[in-house]
Amino acid sequence: MTANPPIAMLAELTHRCPLSCPYCSNPVELARIDSELSTEEWVSVFQQAAALGVLQLHLSGGEPASRRDLTDLVKAARDAGLYTNLITSGIGLNERRLKELDAAGLDHVQLSLQGTDAEMADRIGGYKRGFERKMAVSEWISAIGFPLTLNFVMHRQNLHQLETAIQMAVDMGARRIEVATVQFHGWAMQNRNALMPSRDQAREASRIVAEARARLKGTLVIDYVPADYHANYPKPCMGGWASTGINVAPDGIVLPCHAAQTIPHLKFDNVRDLPLAEIWHNGSAFNAYRGTDWMPEPCQSCDRKEIDFGGCRCQAMALLGDPAATDPVCVKSPRHEVVAQLAEGFSSSGSDELSYRAQPPKLEPTTQ
Ligand code: SF4
Ligand code: FES
Repeated sequence: MTANPPIAMLAELTHRCPLSCPYCSNPVELARIDSELSTEEWVSVFQQAAALGVLQLHLSGGEPASRRDLTDLVKAARDAGLYTNLITSGIGLNERRLKELDAAGLDHVQLSLQGTDAEMADRIGGYKRGFERKMAVSEWISAIGFPLTLNFVMHRQNLHQLETAIQMAVDMGARRIEVATVQFHGWAMQNRNALMPSRDQAREASRIVAEARARLKGTLVIDYVPADYHANYPKPCMGGWASTGINVAPDGIVLPCHAAQTIPHLKFDNVRDLPLAEIWHNGSAFNAYRGTDWMPEPCQSCDRKEIDFGGCRCQAMALLGDPAATDPVCVKSPRHEVVAQLAEGFSSSGSDELSYRAQPPKLEPTTQ
């Protein structure tokens, strides 16, 4: 099958990270450090991506600054003609390294924010003095003149800081803030009790975003991912499966989305074995839910099927055990009540205790 080329690639350079956010989007089974692609292998992936038609490269992790070759990777990506965006917590960057990244041609920085003060940010990120370091990094970013997006992941414990986060983005000179309510996959699934916002909080967040968008028009762009357990329609996850985005994991496994490995029957290919274009066009995992033919009812005859693409396959898997089902967030799903019950139950759990993300193992465990 020949598909349109992907627009964007997410390159998870490593699963190593100084932080241990309890909602990390990395898989629960992290890629081993000794399995990571080498510099040369990543450079080949970037060249193949550009040849395939990818325009934007999001360098992510874990923490991409944990890779010592980050500057070389940025330079290689720029040489291949890709627009480069660094998605970082800021920890592991200093002024010298940021200047080197600037010289290598880095186009954009996306800085994550776990909270708007040290107490919240350091507790959620599981890293002491992380907030202080992050604020220093934001000043170097601004002094160098990188276009900046602030990424604020919201949940029950920090949602009251949303207005402050938006103001911080303005004060930092960011062009954009991504206000994303935590998505419940991987590590976040283990923390639904502690992170699920209430329905009232979700409504309040939407109100704050609408007000700020009107007030800050022309100053700050606000991207908003609402709390989908409280929504009536699902998010158009990945803009449709294998439609516009492609992810490469630290060990070279190529994925249609960051959580795809939670779908047990899918088989994933590796850039160490096959060319990227072959995987994109003909990989069985990419073709499993591409387009609309796979859709069940009510999606198949729904006038929103080209708008939300039936929602999120990984969420249908996680909540219903069936990745080909209509995302139960949708009011038209015969199983919608599952989501409503979970949202109510988890948001009123009364427990704020967090289970933090682990670090990736270093060596293959022995079988003896
Ligand atoms: Fe989207 Fe399917 Fe719901 Fe229609 S029925 S709104 S396509 S999830
Ligand atoms: Fe996999 Fe939504 S996260 S399809």
